[in-house]
Amino acid sequence: MSVLLIAGSPSDRSRTAAVLEAVGQRLELRGQQVDRLRVRDLSPQALLLADFGHPTVSRAVGQVARAEVIVVATPVYKAAYSGVLKVFLDLLAQDAFKGKTVLPLATGGSPHHMLALDYALRPVLQSLGAKQILSGIYATDAQVPLTPEGAYQVAPDIAARLDEAVNTLLRDTLQVQQTNAGRFADVPFSQVLCSV
Ligand SMILES: Cc1cc2nc3c(=O)[nH]c(=O)nc-3n(C[C@H](O)[C@H](O)[C@H](O)COP(=O)(O)O)c2cc1C
Repeated sequence: MSVLLIAGSPSDRSRTAAVLEAVGQRLELRGQQVDRLRVRDLSPQALLLADFGHPTVSRAVGQVARAEVIVVATPVYKAAYSGVLKVFLDLLAQDAFKGKTVLPLATGGSPHHMLALDYALRPVLQSLGAKQILSGIYATDAQVPLTPEGAYQVAPDIAARLDEAVNTLLRDTLQVQQTNAGRFADVPFSQVLCSV
């Protein structure tokens, strides 16, 4: 299973990225191949002016195309997802998430906007053709505190929810892959032989 982590915060030191990385580490420990994409590393001009042909954009679009699972993380900005994530998603083809499983994550200053995952981000993921969107995980800033060493770390309650989400992801996605592996290939109608 190939997984792409998309970090949607414009901040260099980012709580959202810490939550996302915690998911990435769990998947790697379970033997999954994990690729990473920080939207803040793409050309800001290419993002804002919708330059589809820019090398950083085409590389990122290729990463999305190769992934079977997307874990997308965003800070809540003004009761929705971040602007940088939006301008990146706008550069993707309409069916860029077709056949993919998506796990959405968000962090916010308070619990008040936790539903932004469902009313703002989920419809966009759906419109990109995601096959399955798992229940999102929302962490407040207090649940991603700074360690004395100056790194963000997820609190035990969020860590437990991430464990659960990774278990669900592996169980659901591997199950779908096994189902597909055991399936007969589609036969075009023109090749169907009939006898009476
Ligand atoms: C421009 C801006 C707007 C924000 N708007 C909200 C908001 O509407 N609701 C909320 O709960 N937090 C809001 N926050 C707080 C961030 O969502 C929160 O601190 C988040 O963890 C930052 O993630 P990051 O460290 O990955 O950038 C806002 C922060 C900024 C900078």
